[in-house]
Amino acid sequence: MAFPIEERDINRTPLKIAVAGAGRMGQTIVTTIQSQPDLVSVGVWERGQCINELIARCDVVIDFSLPEGTEIVLDAVVEQKKPLVCGVSGLNETQLKKLVKTSGQVPLVFDRNMSLGIAVLERSVREASASLGAGFEIEIAEVHHVHKKDSPSGTALKLAEAIASSRGETGTGSVSFAVERRGEIPGDHEVSMRSATEKLTFSHSVTTRQVFADGAIRAARWAPNQGPGQYSMQDVLFST
Ligand SMILES: NC(=O)c1ccc[n+]([C@@H]2O[C@H](COP(=O)([O-])OP(=O)(O)OC[C@H]3O[C@@H](n4cnc5c(N)ncnc54)[C@H](OP(=O)(O)O)[C@@H]3O)[C@@H](O)[C@H]2O)c1
Repeated sequence: MAFPIEERDINRTPLKIAVAGAGRMGQTIVTTIQSQPDLVSVGVWERGQCINELIARCDVVIDFSLPEGTEIVLDAVVEQKKPLVCGVSGLNETQLKKLVKTSGQVPLVFDRNMSLGIAVLERSVREASASLGAGFEIEIAEVHHVHKKDSPSGTALKLAEAIASSRGETGTGSVSFAVERRGEIPGDHEVSMRSATEKLTFSHSVTTRQVFADGAIRAARWAPNQGPGQYSMQDVLFST
């Protein structure tokens, strides 16, 4: 069932997007919106501003602020019944619970990595770890720019959770992490699965953060046509 507030004719009316967070990702997303004729940026929410007036003018919200900002965004989308695409990583348990509660009322796409490549990698490592079984030690090595606040990255955690669940473990299970912060690297992840006799490696490298903006906008086009619920990029990219 389509989300009831969505009455936009997608063939005629530009999709109005509000962006929360004026940082690296927020700016890239606004530039991307401005380059697409069927999208309109209604504005960017910055620290200290009132969010409600901005959200009232949009069809969908894209949040790339930081966890404390996301808490305010969640309240606002519930109050105004607006679909949300949230890419913020590093949310704590309380914030994640609030996010789940919000998804009971509005369509909410939450993913700690919005790239197509990582969505495919997640599927691949889940399948590989399930096939290889418990005899393999699995490590996720990630390298990011020096400004990144969360560690390990949200992407590393998400891959670890997928691997752990495929092996019947909870959380990130027995997966280990190696973290490096260097220069302006947008995001490198390498998953290695090692036994006493062989090693299998999967790697993904982002060359520009544009890939995350493109994924977020793809999710923003998709979300208004969904019912309330929590979705991931797996749903956006692979659901029929
Ligand atoms: N899902 C994905 O694919 C993906 C990809 C890249 C990044 N990320 C995540 O997205 C988030 C943003 O990344 P980024 O590189 O753009 O970070 P960033 O450059 O630090 O930008 C974050 C922005 O959010 C603003 N902000 C924080 N708290 C706020 C609040 N309470 N009210 C209003 N604005 C607030 C910051 O404002 P101030 O400058 O005033 O603090 C800043 O402008 C991070 O969690 C990052 O890990 C996710």
